[in-house]
Amino acid sequence: CGIVAYIGDQQAAPIILDGLTRLEYRGYDSAGIAVSEKKTVRVARAVGRVRHLRQALPKKFTGTSGIGHTRWATHGPATEENAHPHSSADGRISLVHNGIIDNAAELKAELVAAGVPFTSATDTEVVAHLIAAVTAPTLEQAVLEVTKKLEGTYGLAVLDTEHPDRIVLARSGSPLIIGVGKNGTHVASDIAALTPHTTSVVHLEDGELATVTASGFTTFTHDQSDTSRPPTEVPAESAHQELGEFAHHMRKEYWEQPASAARALKGRLEERFGTARLDGLNLDARAKRAIRRVKILGCGSSYYVGQMGAQMIEELARIPADAEPASEFRYRNPIIDPETLYVAVSQSGETADTLFAIDEIKRKGGQVVGLVNVVGSSIARACDGGIYLHAGPEVAVASTKALTNMALSFGLLALDLGRIRDLSIADAKRIIDGLQAIPGQIDEILRQEDRIAEVAKPLSASASLFFVGRVRGFPVAREGAQKFKEVSYCHAEAYQSSELKHGPLALISAQLPTVAIVPDDELVQRNVGALHEIAARGGPLVAITHAGVDLSGLTAERIDVPKNEVELDPILLTIPTQLLAYHAALALGHDIDKPRNLAKSVTVE
Ligand code: G6P
Repeated sequence: CGIVAYIGDQQAAPIILDGLTRLEYRGYDSAGIAVSEKKTVRVARAVGRVRHLRQALPKKFTGTSGIGHTRWATHGPATEENAHPHSSADGRISLVHNGIIDNAAELKAELVAAGVPFTSATDTEVVAHLIAAVTAPTLEQAVLEVTKKLEGTYGLAVLDTEHPDRIVLARSGSPLIIGVGKNGTHVASDIAALTPHTTSVVHLEDGELATVTASGFTTFTHDQSDTSRPPTEVPAESAHQELGEFAHHMRKEYWEQPASAARALKGRLEERFGTARLDGLNLDARAKRAIRRVKILGCGSSYYVGQMGAQMIEELARIPADAEPASEFRYRNPIIDPETLYVAVSQSGETADTLFAIDEIKRKGGQVVGLVNVVGSSIARACDGGIYLHAGPEVAVASTKALTNMALSFGLLALDLGRIRDLSIADAKRIIDGLQAIPGQIDEILRQEDRIAEVAKPLSASASLFFVGRVRGFPVAREGAQKFKEVSYCHAEAYQSSELKHGPLALISAQLPTVAIVPDDELVQRNVGALHEIAARGGPLVAITHAGVDLSGLTAERIDVPKNEVELDPILLTIPTQLLAYHAALALGHDIDKPRNLAKSVTVE
């Protein structure tokens, strides 16, 4: 979910609506706004996108301070009643909330017993009623007292009709940033909504509260000690994302890959020594040598790319490496080892599960580097160092160019770690040449778009399909299936081609197509063998493969990608899966950039 707030000398509603639009990647089920107007607060909420809220907003929202929210439903469906802001029964307190209040049910039961009427199914409404119930001379003290009772995570922005000169904030787990602008003070749950107005920001720390007014802000802790500090400067806003000639951001973004992939490599390859230059890792050669394992953490597609990365690191650097969903890692009391390099992977840099996994590692003394796209994001700030992806802003929920740059960054990391171990200079040069060829080879694949679109159409008509691959190809299959589900809503399951015969072959029929990842590597015969097993049972086949692979005797649609080095082939084999997913969803008429039920970045656990 996303939070925006503003207090100053301008009308608040347009600023807040604009900020919310920038934060829709964090959720787009419903949106709402509360604007303070003398001694009243007006609230408007709408199901759907921020544009629906904008259309529904009455003209009288002219006040100069307010709060807004765009929601990804956790407690209660996406209805107007459940949209934020939530208000106390007397209308005095209105607030927006990111995070989850774990003890909301208990607190609600107490309030209901005391006769407080509830209007929503959310955990958030409890907080509004609790603040209204406190008798304290200041809003700050009331918020302080209530936050002591809250268990879980929150970023809160609170308006009070009794104190219209301020907005009070509280943070525990869910990021909030204050921006000091020329015409007032801005607040947002991440930097994207602030940079159009100001580059002077202060990140609220966990356990901190803040008072923001038209002329500035103060921050303080639960024991009321003042922690106010001067703002720091962040990079100016990146170019606003226009669609141009493209119908969807997803297609625009996968077409941007030849350029964005080149940016990931720019200035990072040292041909003379056959290595990668990754100064941002903040690790010297001795520290790199001391690494005995690599553990990669991410969510969704970022986890699958992590699996690709683990394979590259094992092959090129011969360091044991594996990837795990950050969401699982944190909760299994993980053993944190000082000789392990932890790598957090995130496009947005705001995914709560990944952020909390980093907290857990750091709390136990582990070292974490980040592969992050958004500069200055929460995950980038939480890591000890990292590799920025330089993919440029990504808008579509289904990640394309950021994923490719994650995979390229793993190639660079593997090269760097490999070269201070046993990777020969000759092998390193082979990998460097391979990496440099990738932007142009992606372009070659994109030029096959019309044909890939033809292959995608019949797939979109299937209720269910398999994506299969093995070893290097398996993460490609997993990512391909994920992407296909995300935008087409067809059931797509990834399986190791080697494991099909141990169970899932029972599902193969003329109605269940398989997309197979068949690189021209040492496993090609085995992979082709699995395709014959599928064909023998009447299963339709699509093979994403290389020109040298012999598929004679099989009826398969083949999509050939240019050959690179075996270790890097997965990066290119992934590209057609993006196009298959997009064109299947297009054939089905789906809202491709904002698929149902999803958010680009899930900022709650
Ligand atoms: C959400 C999105 C996925 C994305 C994942 C991780 O679940 O729907 O497409 O891969 O978050 O996002 P991140 O920003 O951390 O890479």
